[in-house]
Amino acid sequence: MGFNFSFAVGDCILHRSTYFQRIGLPHPPVTSLFLGNLGDFERDQKQHEKIIEWTKKYGSTFGFLDGGAPTIVTSDPEIINEVFVKQYYTFQARKFHPSFALNQKNNPAVNVFFAQGNQWKRLRALFAGSLATGKIKAADPIIKRAAQELIEVFKSHENGIVDVVPQILNFTFAVISRSALGIDEEFGKSTYLNRVLEILSLGETTKKPVSAFFAGTYEFLPATQYLWILSQILGNRNFKFRDEMWYKINATINIRSKESSKEKSERHQDFLDFLYEAEDTCFDNTTNKADLDLKVPKKLTREELIQSARGFLIAGADTTATLLNYCLYELARHPECEEAIIQEIEDFINSELGNDFKSLKRA
Ligand code: HEM
Repeated sequence: MGFNFSFAVGDCILHRSTYFQRIGLPHPPVTSLFLGNLGDFERDQKQHEKIIEWTKKYGSTFGFLDGGAPTIVTSDPEIINEVFVKQYYTFQARKFHPSFALNQKNNPAVNVFFAQGNQWKRLRALFAGSLATGKIKAADPIIKRAAQELIEVFKSHENGIVDVVPQILNFTFAVISRSALGIDEEFGKSTYLNRVLEILSLGETTKKPVSAFFAGTYEFLPATQYLWILSQILGNRNFKFRDEMWYKINATINIRSKESSKEKSERHQDFLDFLYEAEDTCFDNTTNKADLDLKVPKKLTREELIQSARGFLIAGADTTATLLNYCLYELARHPECEEAIIQEIEDFINSELGNDFKSLKRA
């Protein structure tokens, strides 16, 4: 039995290594039977450069083996239109790093990033409503306060030399913790910064045997998903199914759910409020697809609400910090552009389109 099983696994691994050959799609040569092209792809963490290099070599649509996961990369606008617009209903899930043996189906603790199909559609609709421009504006005072704190930090460096990158991260973490998690921590003292950066920096899979094992056994997820949970528990001494952030967000929701309308009106509304109140109008209890014909809650469940708030922090803080840092870097290299940029922003605010941003006018 064990003998037959290892033959079956071996066959499967051999079979997948010729996948792109069989479907006639250009691809880089498979360098490892177990991990496909993953070693090459992640080398020195320069994945985007590798994609550009492969695109030049193999054309606008090519395949590569991301561990055991056959992956198609395309920059062909027609295919992109087909996937994101025309066949949108077929592609309702996100591809994860192959070392994540995470069951995306029927998981009560997923957010919009991990969900797929029916659940993603519902979560996405709830999210979209909470991120309308008018609602984002509610975070204005939170952003302004954090910006003021950032300026104070800059001013406190008397010699004028500041390591800008970590301070911008402190800024975005303060804004998102306060506006999405309902957690108001002192500027620069976010408990979650290191944890989030750790989640985002996966490193090179080939250098981590446990991750390599899951990446190479991608097709066996129905079995490996349980081993993966076990590896998370054993690999992290501080692992808890519900960590401190979970309990903090939950406590904030409990307090808010007991507030009177007067108490509520006396504090700023934030994304946690909008997500809590969000009710899905576009997703009725049934759809025209048989497999989606389910009874589903029209509001976020408590678990979904907490996971969504966490998702904001993981999705929004580092991304926004990178963008801001890049803008500041370019601005430092081209100080002559500063006035032109300020003028462009003012022109936009003064235009009809800028109605929602009038409060941001230069003092
Ligand atoms: C400059 C800043 C940002 C950049 C460059 C950025 C980039 C992206 C990209 C590329 C995706 C798609 C990822 C994928 O398909 O796997 C994405 C998805 C997402 N982002 Fe952002 N993002 C930024 C800011 C934010 C912020 C501030 C938030 C929330 C507070 C946010 C929330 C999300 C969510 C919830 C999704 C998933 C949407 C879905 O599955 O339907 N992002 N972002």
